[in-house]
Amino acid sequence: MNDFVVAIDQGTTSTRAMIFDHDGAEVGRHQLEHEQILPKAGWVEHNPVEIWERTAAVLMSVLNNTKLQVDDLAALGITNQRETALVWDRKTGRPYYNAIVWQDTRTDRIASTLDRDGRGDVIRHKAGLPPATYFSAAKVQWILENVDGVREAAERGDAIFGTSDSWVAWNLTGGPRGGVHVTDVTNASRTMLMNLETLDWDDELLSFFGIPRQMLPRIVPSSSPEPYGTTQDTGPLGGEVPVTGILGDQQAAMVGQVCLAPGEAKNTYGTGNFLLLNTGEKIVRSENGLLTTVCYQFGEAKPVYALEGSIAVTGSAVQWLRDQLGIISGAAQSESLARQVEDNGGVYFVPAFSGLFAPYWRSDARGAIVGLSRFNTNAHVARATLEAICYQSRDVVDAMEKDSGVHLEVLKVDGGITANDLCMQIQSDVLGVDVVKPVVAETTALGAAYAAGLAVGFWDDPEDLRANWQEGKRWTPAWSDEQRTAGYAGWQKAVQRTLDWVDVT
Ligand SMILES: Nc1ncnc2c1ncn2[C@@H]1O[C@H](COP(=O)(O)OP(=O)(O)OP(=O)(O)O)[C@@H](O)[C@H]1O
Ligand SMILES: [Mg+2]
Repeated sequence: MNDFVVAIDQGTTSTRAMIFDHDGAEVGRHQLEHEQILPKAGWVEHNPVEIWERTAAVLMSVLNNTKLQVDDLAALGITNQRETALVWDRKTGRPYYNAIVWQDTRTDRIASTLDRDGRGDVIRHKAGLPPATYFSAAKVQWILENVDGVREAAERGDAIFGTSDSWVAWNLTGGPRGGVHVTDVTNASRTMLMNLETLDWDDELLSFFGIPRQMLPRIVPSSSPEPYGTTQDTGPLGGEVPVTGILGDQQAAMVGQVCLAPGEAKNTYGTGNFLLLNTGEKIVRSENGLLTTVCYQFGEAKPVYALEGSIAVTGSAVQWLRDQLGIISGAAQSESLARQVEDNGGVYFVPAFSGLFAPYWRSDARGAIVGLSRFNTNAHVARATLEAICYQSRDVVDAMEKDSGVHLEVLKVDGGITANDLCMQIQSDVLGVDVVKPVVAETTALGAAYAAGLAVGFWDDPEDLRANWQEGKRWTPAWSDEQRTAGYAGWQKAVQRTLDWVDVT
């Protein structure tokens, strides 16, 4: 009986496998972290072999834990950290280099050159993205230029590129023995190499980065009745399951939150924060520092687009309090520590570790804690960290409202940080609107399951999914307008202090 759908969420900090039933309820999950490799300031890498091993391990465990058989699975969906670039050998499966993670800033000079000589505007128009270190193309260029033998292997057709969805799909469907080399439109829309209108790799964009076309995966819809491939008897599931859904993690969260109509939006709070607004079949070009991206494409239907505000550092600032400053022992403790004080005591923390993403796009910014006086304690820093998560989201909400004319009456949220009640209350206070979270907060994995399940008729129609969305929790603004205005003015001043810090020209 095919009563379940399995999703792999290959994230920045961990990989999880989750199984869902027809109501979209979670039946089981298993999750494993992988190493964050930080070779020098600004560099962030993952080991692709470790990522695949963890993916295989969580798949095996989730099946064992739930006591399900491979035949119980109607389809498999993949969602993933986006932009992170991998290059491997299609004959051996050997990576040529570690995965260069989306947060990595080693390509800042490449990115700033693009903006000085006019290529930046072409990228903005064709790909919907500002030239920035964030996206994949310059990372691939860096590997081609800095790792011995890769350029020749790429010209020969042996060295191939993919984001982590491609890597996982290729390994799942056979690896060197016939694995499929694909990526979906949403992931492709984050590379700076895909044309938003044609949904194909664009020769002019490829030429900007010197990337040979034969390195690139085939671009496929996010949900495909014709499976991209099937899992192997010899693989972690020990049987054949059609792989029929792929979505970048933030687009998957849109689907998991059933933001399927124009004007619907969600904000996901994880390693970074990502606010997306569905703009329907229309490509809306931002004038306020947002990205234009593909939201999803189901089967043969036209693609649906989104405006996106990407924030690099939110949950990872909480991890920084834990791992680098050592002022908390776990993420949840950020809440109890911050609750020891009434307010931020004048302290603002702008965690511009990777420069500033939306709506500023300043790779010359670096993090700063400002407004300190002798009176301040760890608790103020913890509070300022939670506030930074919310103020950065406010920056993006304001930009979104300017670009789209859509006024958010309520903000739909999900992701790990939404477990933090204080942070969600501050978010509601800072925005002055209600914040609501669904019962199933694992919307990323759920969205990938939905995409895979829609393809095989496990769910009939995207609109059927609406019935599965239920409100779990709601936060309502408590601040006065004066508090809100004064608090935000302090934040805007703090942001100014971080700009023009490193020299990227
Ligand atoms: N109670 C909490 N308070 C504050 N932050 C939290 C709390 N619980 C988790 N976090 C933060 O949330 C993040 C994890 O959330 P989540 O698992 O949604 O992240 P993610 O972005 O999906 O991870 P990945 O990037 O691996 O996909 C971590 O950065 C962690 O610091
Ligand atoms: Mg995630």
